[in-house]
Amino acid sequence: MQPVAYRLESAWQPDGSPNGCFTFTLFNLSEAPLSNFRLVYTSLTRVIGKDACKNATFLRRNANFHEFAPPEGLTLQPGERWTFTVGYLHRQARHCTDGAKSAYVTLSDGRHVPVAVSDLLVEGKISEPPPARLPAGRLDLPFALLPWPEVIDALPGEGLPVVLYPAEGTRPEDIRAVSAVLALFHRLFPARHAPFSLMPSGQGRRIVFAENGDLAPEGYGLQFSSGEIRLEYASSAGRQYGLTTLAQLLHGARADPSRFSFPVSGSISDRPRYGWRGCHLDVSRQFYPTAEVMRLIDILAWFKLNIFHWHLTDDEAWRLEIKAYPTLSTLGVLRGPDEPLLPQLGNGAEPVGGFYSQDEVKAIVAHAAGLHVEVVPEVDIPGHSTAALVALPELADGQEAPESYHSVQGYPNNALNPAAPFTYEFLEKVFDEMAELFPSRYIHIGGDEVADGSWLASPMARRLMEEQGLSGTFALQSYFLKKVKQMLMARGRMLVGWNEVAHGGGVGTEGTLLMAWENPKVGIELARAGYDVVMTPGQAYYLDMAQAEAWQEPGASWAGTATPEHTYAYEAEGEFPEELKSRMKGVQACIWSEHFLSRGYFNHLVFPRLPAIAEAAWTPKVKKDWSRFAAIAPLSPTL
Ligand code: ACM
Repeated sequence: MQPVAYRLESAWQPDGSPNGCFTFTLFNLSEAPLSNFRLVYTSLTRVIGKDACKNATFLRRNANFHEFAPPEGLTLQPGERWTFTVGYLHRQARHCTDGAKSAYVTLSDGRHVPVAVSDLLVEGKISEPPPARLPAGRLDLPFALLPWPEVIDALPGEGLPVVLYPAEGTRPEDIRAVSAVLALFHRLFPARHAPFSLMPSGQGRRIVFAENGDLAPEGYGLQFSSGEIRLEYASSAGRQYGLTTLAQLLHGARADPSRFSFPVSGSISDRPRYGWRGCHLDVSRQFYPTAEVMRLIDILAWFKLNIFHWHLTDDEAWRLEIKAYPTLSTLGVLRGPDEPLLPQLGNGAEPVGGFYSQDEVKAIVAHAAGLHVEVVPEVDIPGHSTAALVALPELADGQEAPESYHSVQGYPNNALNPAAPFTYEFLEKVFDEMAELFPSRYIHIGGDEVADGSWLASPMARRLMEEQGLSGTFALQSYFLKKVKQMLMARGRMLVGWNEVAHGGGVGTEGTLLMAWENPKVGIELARAGYDVVMTPGQAYYLDMAQAEAWQEPGASWAGTATPEHTYAYEAEGEFPEELKSRMKGVQACIWSEHFLSRGYFNHLVFPRLPAIAEAAWTPKVKKDWSRFAAIAPLSPTL
């Protein structure tokens, strides 16, 4: 490891302006003088004014990429530092992760040299450490089940069976199911004792399997006695959930015998509250290699979640190999100082890329299917499309004024143009390949955050709007999304989208599923308009939101603070009028990865809130219990 040559320290302070200012100090820790250079950092707290700097010149910005020049002639000798301040921020900083996420210097010969960065400090305000995220918790029944079952009436036994094994005469498909959950357990807890054995053991307990068509499709029943366990199920998913319950019971009893036991008698009768029990992962802002995606899917299966919503494209990268358009996974993924896509969100001097080949996608989909997890792929259109537009510049209207609109994340002209014939040719081919790769009934097409004003400076779009009698960005968006819906229907798929799909006239409610993310109210409004909805409001279910107000708690804050207790207690169905409840198909966690620069941040922010949402997705409201959850959640596997 090379010693750090340069380090950028940053602090934010209120200064009487609306959003305060940053103070940056670059330390030259190298043995050589530094002169004739420019400094780049990436920060989600953007600078939006030209004359924003003291003791530096603000050269350019693209989304969260910022470039500065030091004062003319500045030389930093070894050990010296340069301090400059930056104002005109687009919002206040609230957490230690709101400063520079990465930095580098560009030398006069064009070389880019890494600069280490530190957490953002706050001046002129208290920088308090965060409170504990979970209390010690309390258990009425000593069983380590998460999500908690619908009905449990069981007594704890003294001691534990060494393993559970399929009874003599068990059918091969039931034995295979045991093997699959055993393999899942081994992947999640490689150093822990196996809960199952395919062979009988004198110190173990046998499982007798029985199909029971009267149970709910994903439901199961367990009856415990000292001699055997009877597992009833109606479907292979129910069987997997029953076996997962057994694995959780045994795992908890072994991991913390002072708190948890294995049942010796009684029963569990269980089924999920919702059919859509989802978790989303944004792989565009940060790339997650195939093994990590598979491990996340393992974790979903462990918590009986059944939908993996894979956010494959965004402004920052297009991660899905499309054979018809190879530049999507070359130009469309590589972010670097000299690439068409500039460094963002923690990228530094070295270019970074990453995409999923179609073989990797097939392997991930097969892995998920083996665990009863459905992979719902998302390509986020028409907005959030910078990467696609960089990879395929012919998608743009060449006559459109540059920087004629900006997305909320600060990207200029980032929406596919509904008036360009190539847009539809492109999407037909993308959907053809996606339909081959993804067996899901659903394809998610995004539809969120198209900036008001998009396309209005595109002569092509203007002509189309005139011809079609469309007025404004959102009428044009609706025109576009209706065509997209037809493309999906022609391939036998249903359109899923974010709540803004309903804007400007929407796409028709029949065969459309929308995700309410902006706030809980929009979910109810969508249901009232006739859409099926999945509830994923940022205020409770966005796992990138900070978990406490404290400065030192990492994460975002635009949707507020989502403490684990709030995420757990939130009732998505809460305000739905009785007659609209059937439109609410389930709930979903969203893992947006702008802030997730390391596995450490990922695990800190995702847990324990992901299992909290899993319990909200499965367990009836009357059976939710924060104290019990707090006692069991520390057993969660992490990425
Ligand atoms: C979203 O958070 N823009 C769906």
